[in-house]
Amino acid sequence: MTNYNKLFEPITLGNGVQVRNRFMLAPMCDDSADHGQVINQQVTYMEPRANYVGIADTGYAYVNDSGIQVDGQLSAAHDSDIPGLTKLAKVMKKGGAKAILQLSHAGRDSGASNANGERVYAPSKMDFPWLNYEVDEMTEADIEQVISDFKTATHRAIKAGFDGIEIHNCNHDLLQQFFSAISNHRTDQWGGSLEKRMAFPLAVQKAVKETITESGKHDFIFGWRISPEEKHSNQVGYDVDNMLAQTKRVFDSGIDYLNISLNLSADYSNSSRPSYDVQVKGTTQSFPDYFQKVVGNLPIYIGSNVLTANDALAAVTDAAGVYVGRELLMDPDFVKKIMDGNTEQIINTTTIEHLEEAGLPTRFIENYADKNGAGRMVSYRNGIPLPGLD
Ligand SMILES: Cc1cc2nc3c(=O)[nH]c(=O)nc-3n(C[C@H](O)[C@H](O)[C@H](O)COP(=O)(O)O)c2cc1C
Repeated sequence: MTNYNKLFEPITLGNGVQVRNRFMLAPMCDDSADHGQVINQQVTYMEPRANYVGIADTGYAYVNDSGIQVDGQLSAAHDSDIPGLTKLAKVMKKGGAKAILQLSHAGRDSGASNANGERVYAPSKMDFPWLNYEVDEMTEADIEQVISDFKTATHRAIKAGFDGIEIHNCNHDLLQQFFSAISNHRTDQWGGSLEKRMAFPLAVQKAVKETITESGKHDFIFGWRISPEEKHSNQVGYDVDNMLAQTKRVFDSGIDYLNISLNLSADYSNSSRPSYDVQVKGTTQSFPDYFQKVVGNLPIYIGSNVLTANDALAAVTDAAGVYVGRELLMDPDFVKKIMDGNTEQIINTTTIEHLEEAGLPTRFIENYADKNGAGRMVSYRNGIPLPGLD
């Protein structure tokens, strides 16, 4: 019988905080918040999924009203959000996991902000053929405001009782839009050379770090999620070495773990192998090996398409931690079953009825479950593929 003990060894984060095991509940937006505010279904859904993991991450929470990608996203933009966030943090921590609030700004992709009548902005004004709304070029004041909003949102996470925050510097969000040569055409201090394109993510990192230091909460966790490269057919937003350079700077300035958002295969039926197993092109190294060389012993989390105990075990031979997303939606007891040696009971194919019984919020099921198939959670939101590596 395979020995899964390694999955239950603790991890020491950059700030010395110990996480009890290698599992992370992957950040997943459940589309269910009410104008950004936590609803009871979200609290009920979160509790069992957070129960046995080391780190439980929320879906992305927007830091201001111009940065909302989808209706139903969590908000960390207002003080009035704090009571709901407090309820969420409480159930996430209840079983011993570290509760992390993921913070984001969607930049040009803030379709829900547009629907709410908000101005949508991005590093550069350009033609985004897939968008049906106007996108402004950010002014210096906009940039300073967003940096300040990341700070304020971090304060709110502390007030709400979270153990940490994670910055969503991935999946085509605003931080990535600045870093990408495809979407950043600025000629001021925030664009142009690689160094200038990384100025905005670095400024957000510095501001958040200062906020945590000023709070005096030295055990507050600072996570950082990246998309390791951005490539669209023959266009390169940034390559893995560009991201390596950015990550080195962020690491030097102080983060507590690195979370690498890896490619997902859109359909579980194609996933004979977990997709975290990809190698950096032109090398024989995996993504975590590649990044580990600039972050010393800092824990790296990887994942994607982890469906079985063996997938999870394989991930932690490559990296410190493994994030598990869709599998924990389908089977909230995934980690417990591995812990108890009941791996044969793991559920990784399911029906809509099962998802309802598994306590997923109604809108989550409506938006994500593949109604044509067996009710598997697929990586589509109303038919739109979720961003992976590019
Ligand atoms: C429904 C859903 C919502 C997601 N929302 C987020 C999010 O808010 N922030 C984020 O960084 N990634 C998000 N992701 C990506 C996941 O964190 C994870 O990287 C991806 O699902 C691959 O892991 P899995 O195969 O274990 O699901 C989401 C994925 C899914 C399926």
